[in-house]
Parts: sequence; C-alpha cells; structure tokens
Amino acid sequence: MATAHTAEEQIEKLREEIRHHEYLYYMLDAPEISDAQYDALMNQLKKLEAEHPGLITPDSPTQRVGGKPGGGFAKVAHSRPMLSLDNAYNAEELRAWDSRVRTGLSSSESVKYVCELKLDGLSMALQYTAAQDGSARLQRGLTRGDGTTGEDVTTNVRTIRSVPLSVSAKKLAAAKLPQDFEVRGEVVLPHVAFVKMNEERVAQGMAPAANPRNAAAGTIRTLEPNIVAQRRLDLYAYFLLRDGETLLPTHTETLEALRTAGFRVNPHAKTVKNIDGVIEFIAAAEPLRETLGYEIDGVVIKVDSTAQQRRLGFTGKAPRWAIAYKFAARAAVTKLEDVHFQVGRTGKVTPVAVLVPVLIGGTTVTRATLHNADEIARLGVKIGDSVQVERGGDVIPKIVEVVEDKQHPRGNKEIVFPSTCPVCGTELVRVEGEVDWRCINNSCPARVREELLHWASRGVMNIEGLGDAMVAQLLGQAPTFDGETAEVTEEGAPITTRKPLIYNIADLYRLKREQLLGLERVGEKTADALLAQIDRSCSAGLARVLLGLGIRFVGERTAQLLAQHFGSIEALKKATAEELEAVNEVGPKVAQAIVEFFAIEKNQQLISDLESLGLKMTAEKKVVGTALNGLTFVLTGTLPNLTRDEAKERIEAAGGKVSGSVSKKTSFVVAGEEAGSKLEKAQSLGVKILDEEGLLELLKG
Ligand code: IVH
Repeated sequence: MATAHTAEEQIEKLREEIRHHEYLYYMLDAPEISDAQYDALMNQLKKLEAEHPGLITPDSPTQRVGGKPGGGFAKVAHSRPMLSLDNAYNAEELRAWDSRVRTGLSSSESVKYVCELKLDGLSMALQYTAAQDGSARLQRGLTRGDGTTGEDVTTNVRTIRSVPLSVSAKKLAAAKLPQDFEVRGEVVLPHVAFVKMNEERVAQGMAPAANPRNAAAGTIRTLEPNIVAQRRLDLYAYFLLRDGETLLPTHTETLEALRTAGFRVNPHAKTVKNIDGVIEFIAAAEPLRETLGYEIDGVVIKVDSTAQQRRLGFTGKAPRWAIAYKFAARAAVTKLEDVHFQVGRTGKVTPVAVLVPVLIGGTTVTRATLHNADEIARLGVKIGDSVQVERGGDVIPKIVEVVEDKQHPRGNKEIVFPSTCPVCGTELVRVEGEVDWRCINNSCPARVREELLHWASRGVMNIEGLGDAMVAQLLGQAPTFDGETAEVTEEGAPITTRKPLIYNIADLYRLKREQLLGLERVGEKTADALLAQIDRSCSAGLARVLLGLGIRFVGERTAQLLAQHFGSIEALKKATAEELEAVNEVGPKVAQAIVEFFAIEKNQQLISDLESLGLKMTAEKKVVGTALNGLTFVLTGTLPNLTRDEAKERIEAAGGKVSGSVSKKTSFVVAGEEAGSKLEKAQSLGVKILDEEGLLELLKG
C-alpha cells in the first residue's frame, strides 16, 4: 500500500527528528528549536501514530509514559553485582589508596586515573537488547536493590528524558557498540524539580523530602509513571558492561562511547596522569557544588585501564580500582535562637527559624524554614535547642532534626504559633483539612507587598523596575537596596516611614510622574520607564490578570483555560461552581476558591477599578465541543490504538474531563490492556466501563 508506506516513512522521519532534538536538548543542553516547535513535532507524530496504530513501536518518543507497572516491582538479579565504593576524606587517604593501587600492579607501570563527580542520587542499571532494525532497545531498568538483586522499575525509567529508549544502528556503529549491553549510571533530581516537588508536598500537608536523593529514590519507586514523568529526573551514565564485563579497554573510552551513543555523561570528568592530578581536580570540583543545579557529594576516582582494573580486582564489597572522595557534609549543628513568622501573598504564615550563624558549605546560614505548624510539631523543636541544619537542593536551608547529647542540652522555650497576624493583628484562620494558618485581611501590608510583587513578576505582568525596593517605597516602607535587609519591627513587620503612594494593585495604574520623582533613587528616566511598563501591562489580557489576582490554586495553566473558556471577566465572575467545574482541569477545590474570590467585595471593587483604568479583561474564546459535557473519565491500561495523551486530548476537546483516580463521581473508566487497580475499583463502585471502541462511539456523539 503506497499510503501506508509513506506514513511509515513520515513517522520514522519524525521520530528521528524528535530524537535528534531531544538529544540536543537533554544531552548537550543546546536546543536548536523552541519548546513549542518541539511540541508541534511531537503532536504531528502522535497524530500520525493514532491514524496508523500498527506502526507504534515501544521506542517511539511518544511512548515514554506507557502503562502502569501494577502492584510492586519485580525483583531481578544483576548481571554483575552493583557494588559500593570505599571512601576517602582527605588527601592523605587518597595518597594511601594510590600507593595500594601501585603496589597491586607492577612498579614500572604508570597508572592513569579518571575523576568524575560523585552524583548524589541512586544508581541504576539499564539493559539494552538487540532489535530487528539493528538498533539497541531499552529492555529493562533496575535499581541497585541489595547490590545483587534490583527492582525492575522499567516503566518509570522510560519516562526519564535523558535515557534513550533506543540507540540507532548508526549511533551504535559510531560508538563501536554491540546491540546488547548494559549501562550503569546515577539518577538525580535537579534542584528546581526538587524545590517544586517539596512545595507541592508541603501544600498538601505532607512532610517535605529531606534532600534530592531521597526525593529521587521515592520518585523512581512511585507506582504512577505519570508522576515520575512530571518530576523531571535525570540520568548520568558512567559504566558500560556486556555480559557483566567492562567492554572497552579504558574508562576514558567508555565515557566517550556512552556520549557518542546518546547517553548523558557528566561533562565534569577528567583523565589525569597521577594522584596529584586527582587532588587538583577535587580542589576545582568542590566549588562547583554551588552552581551545578544538582547535588554532588564528592568525586569518584577510577583506574583508567580496564586491564589494570581486572588485575586489582575487588575486596568483599568494593572494587580496589576505585574510590570515593567525600566532600565535607553540607550540614551543621547550630542553635535555634528564635522563630519569626512571615506572611505571604495568600496570607499564609510561615515560621522561619532564626539561627546562631553557622558556616555550611561556604555559606553563612542564619535562617531556615520550618514550613508550618505541623512541621514544628513533627520535629518537636523548642527555642534554645541545638538543631541539625542541612542545605540541600533548596536555596532555603532546613532544620532536619533536634540534636540532643551532653554538649547539646535541650532548649525549653515552646514555639508558640501566633493566633493573630504578626503584621496587621488580624486573627489567623486555619481551614479544616489544611496545614497552613492564614491572615485573611486582604489589606494586610505584608500581603499587599507580596501581591504587588507577584503582579509585577515575570510570567505575570512582567513589569520591569517594580521590584522589592520600588514596591517598598510605593507602600511608604523603608526601601532596601542591593540586597540589604529591610528594617523591621520586633515582630518582623515592615516599618512604615511615610504616607503610602499606593494601597493596592489598582493604585499602580493611577501613579503620577511627579509622585515617582519624589522617591529615593528615582530620576526622570526611571520614572518614565516604570510608567511605560505599567502602561504596557494594561494589554496583557485576561489570563494574565487572573494569574496576577492570585486566586488560590489558579496557576498559569488554569488561568489560561479559564480565560479561553469564559472569554471575559464578566462571564467568569458570574459562573457558578458547577459551571466552573465544567472547565477541563478545574476540580471542586479550584472552583470553590474562584467563587469565594469573586464573592469578596474588595475583590469586586479591585476588578471594576482595574477595568475602568483600562486593563484588558477579555480573551479569545476557544470553542470546545459539548458531546461529553459534564462527564468525567478515568483512563487505565494500554488502549489498542490511542495513546493516553491522545485519548485525553480527544475527551477534553469534546468537553469531557479526565481525572487520575476513580470515585463514585467518575462517569466512565476507559480500560485497555493490563488495566490494574483502577479497573477493579470501578467495578466495585459500579462505575461504567468502556473499551476504546466504546469511547470512540461516545466521542462521535
Ligand atoms: S562508580 C563499582 N561513578 O556512588 C563502582 N558511582 O558510593 C561503583 N555514584 O553506588 C559506582 N556518582 O550510586 C560511580 N561517577 C560515579 C558516581 C557513582 C555517584 C554513586 C553510585 C555508587 C555510590 C558508591
């Protein structure tokens, strides 16, 4: 068939192109196309594959999120044990190891070493096997487990973008690799992803993960591949085996071959000719820690020559030919002097620990977050206690535990969570089922400050020149410049020094040039530039306005969906919770928050003020079908033709909603092959079950 042939070629070409761009993006950090262009290619491929389901192969870039692994993970034996390493903590110990290595070999031989960063994550074995088209395909991903047997976490590993699902025959040839081999490497969670994950956990009332390594380990063992996919794990490859044996003559060549084959190999690796070279590398590596964006806890040093490695062999648990140099821990014990309570934009009150200054990893730490009242209770911490403070991926250090021994007697002053706002005195409120205490005074100066900063921020109105110092001055508070800390009252409230020029967001749009010129460090140029920026923001449109208003749970995407659905603030304002829930991805919690927001008189006033001041409060409406209006679907298992994303897209385009978990409210569960617990739950709740065909029928309306 001529058309099928063309489709096949087209699909293969698209896959190649997508793989190439994934490679540029994830491996080389040098993308050549925008995210939107990448998405467009991916959508094109998804569409073609949906039209020709017979052509979908497991290594297609569309297949990164497959079915679910289903209850627990299978245990699988490693091809060769995954050992740990002996540690060294100083140059002396390294030199002692170097002598042992050289004594183990004959005295005339020279020994080269490869230095690599010691990534602080979890190790992983990736097994590749021969595919018919000459490529190597990812067959299995195993955790280290007990070193001899690991857990099969293939489904989750497949969601990691820096793990190639297949290595083409061409790449194999370039790297001089066979079609079956095993790659070992470290899975890490980058700092940004870690911070995001913890914010979500804390918002949901869960304890934050202590560090990125724990977070990565927890993530890889999650039973929901979709969650793993969202977390943005990374894998750095550092070993290459075949039948349990090192394949290439040197480790330097191994790293190069891995790179050529398309694996992400850490760029900070160096081959050196003796132990002095190792010590130099370590000195240069330690400061990198601050800027890498992922955790490292030392340097791994390996004998370069595979033949020499073989002759050196292993002790019981570790190779003699490698050692881990461990950096000093980025944790320290210090004393908790006091706790301040900070009020955020949403009124959330966050306890902040005031610490006796302590040097951790080259930075003086004086504050640490205590997250919320539950966290204080969990730690059982009191003022005067000695505490273990850790600097992980978070920029903000955290208290990990209370330390108690002879040198560190317990403190005795209870931390009292305030019952009123430390800034404006309004009584704090804790919504049932939530962890946070909030100040509900919309005019609270602390909240107004944060609201203005949020409104001006990048991604919202993007008003340049409206930063900390300017906002403080506009609010009549003492300004801070160049990172000085603002003067505050004893309770941490800002000090008001003169009459504010503005009291809320709308006032920004009423600012006059003369008013600005009266401020510190504001000349004509600065004033005019700021006014122009504020003016420009008037036309940002409804989605940005909604985002800027800071309605709880309304992030960028929800704001956009709401804007597209309702088209104007007038329509949105009038929407009932039910009408709001008809919007894709808007659940009862979000709908409720929106209704509550618009019910508050002050918010109504702000919106009508903004409208009369000329802000654009409309958006282009995007028409969504109505065939599935009001219906909620849960997808489970692998459908014969549609990918999960495809099915979701189609349901949403017809006005339906897709949810992740089955409840009595679910209208239909769409079940494919290897459907698991969700199908069982649907059956037990009496929820209607559809197969793909049934779904397609419904979609036809
Ligand atoms: S080599 C037998 N290279 O550190 C050789 N390991 O303390 C063992 N690690 O279990 C692994 N970065 O999880 C090697 N560049 C690197 C590494 C590395 C991190 C981890 C790995 C290993 C542990 C040993």
